[in-house]
Amino acid sequence: MWRVKSLDAILATAEKKSLQRSLGAFQLTMLGIGAIIGTGIFVLTAEAAQKAGPGMMLSFVIAGFVCAVAALCYAEMSAMVPVSGSAYTYSYAVMGEMLAWMVGWALILEYAVAAGAVSVGWSGYVVGLLENALHMDIPDLLVRGPFDGGMINLPAMGIALLVTALLVVGTRESAAVNAFLVCIKVAALVLFIVLAVPVIKMENFEPFSPLGFGGISAAAASIFFAYVGFDAVSTAAEETKNPQRNMPIGLIGSLGICTIFYILVAAGVIGTVGAQPVLGADGAGLRPGSPELSAACAALGDAKVVCSKEALAWTLREIGWPQIGNLIGLAAGLALPSVILMMMFGQTRIFFVMSRDGLLPPILSTVHPKYKTPHIITMITGVFVALFAAFFPVGILADISNSGTLFAFAMVAVAVLVLRRTDPGRKRPFRTPAIYVVAPLAAAGCVYLFFSLPLDTQIMFAVWATIGLIVYFLYGYRKSHVAHGEPGEVHELDADAPPGPVPPMPGV
Ligand code: ALA
Repeated sequence: MWRVKSLDAILATAEKKSLQRSLGAFQLTMLGIGAIIGTGIFVLTAEAAQKAGPGMMLSFVIAGFVCAVAALCYAEMSAMVPVSGSAYTYSYAVMGEMLAWMVGWALILEYAVAAGAVSVGWSGYVVGLLENALHMDIPDLLVRGPFDGGMINLPAMGIALLVTALLVVGTRESAAVNAFLVCIKVAALVLFIVLAVPVIKMENFEPFSPLGFGGISAAAASIFFAYVGFDAVSTAAEETKNPQRNMPIGLIGSLGICTIFYILVAAGVIGTVGAQPVLGADGAGLRPGSPELSAACAALGDAKVVCSKEALAWTLREIGWPQIGNLIGLAAGLALPSVILMMMFGQTRIFFVMSRDGLLPPILSTVHPKYKTPHIITMITGVFVALFAAFFPVGILADISNSGTLFAFAMVAVAVLVLRRTDPGRKRPFRTPAIYVVAPLAAAGCVYLFFSLPLDTQIMFAVWATIGLIVYFLYGYRKSHVAHGEPGEVHELDADAPPGPVPPMPGV
């Protein structure tokens, strides 16, 4: 189980393409911003407020910092091993098959569950838009999951199945569509900031931290979701001009800009409509996405931003901009499906690589004769994503997704460090600056955020990891191609497999 797949074998397996170095610091930064902004800021701002109150501004800084150091580690790995499979592949080369399997297993949480979370976030905005702009009265039972005061979230389920169908027929976002969506997302946030920040009232920031530093850490662990996607920048290392200079600018630039956007948006929400959490009888904050919070919110007439499923649109409606609020809802409705598409695409490609390595059944890497997509695994993934989306609230899905992502990021930070010692001579197109400071900080930051997640999310991760180990020993341990001395086949899908966890933006 400690067997490794050598880096040279990995590179040979995936038939390294030589990509043109065309990206500069600006394009990389835009790429990052496009991949990062999504459900996190549009929806989870309300959840962060419920966990930390106005102190959520600090939570955004903490989560952004952990992502920045993790991103620098990711960049070294992805530039050195620019093949599909990302953290899973790196771990296979450095820390052995069992840990690689565990990382791949955790990435299922990262991608599939995150796709579910974004679907639920999308549903919140679209339902809000239909209710406010078209005055439709949609029963909560059909647009919220059972934990959230409803029965089934049909729009979330529908968008997940629609995106699955698009992926089966091989839809990719074109560069033009991507640029358009980036503009929409950025414009929506700018509009929000311009309208909200000038009417901030300082008294709304008091008390700043009603639930203490524990609340700020808990919100940081959840809002971490808002930054996921920066990996798209690190995976473009091979296509970057002068990566040693431009990579850190692209990574830190996109994370820094998003952090500033996020803090301004958070300040706009807090300062205009207040962000104090809804407390239970014992004085503790009620858990976002729980039936208790739904009931308390219903009793309050949903008159607090922490109750909203569309925090930014809700805030604008409250401060006298109902039409612009609807416009923000429209922007989220248009832009969020592309985040679902990226997440599900990433998931199917991770499964694909694991199946190709023999750790999952070969049927999963079957490619559709006409569409040339891994249709079987795409449909299986889609069904699960649709079920998550139908029955779970966005915050719980985002937390579960974060647990898997944090584990994978911590493993990458360790792998980068180990590889510096065990294979110092290998060509590194990008070297993480101050690696002996940055990598331990990244690993420690991930561990800190992991243990700031709700206890049941941590337990759920442990259960998931245990199931993963059982599956590994029952299947992958015996079937592994590396165990049988096979180098692994080169598959035609490798040609367009993404080199990293979030697929690179086509055409960027
Ligand atoms: N960062 C992405 C989002 O917030 C995953 O939707």
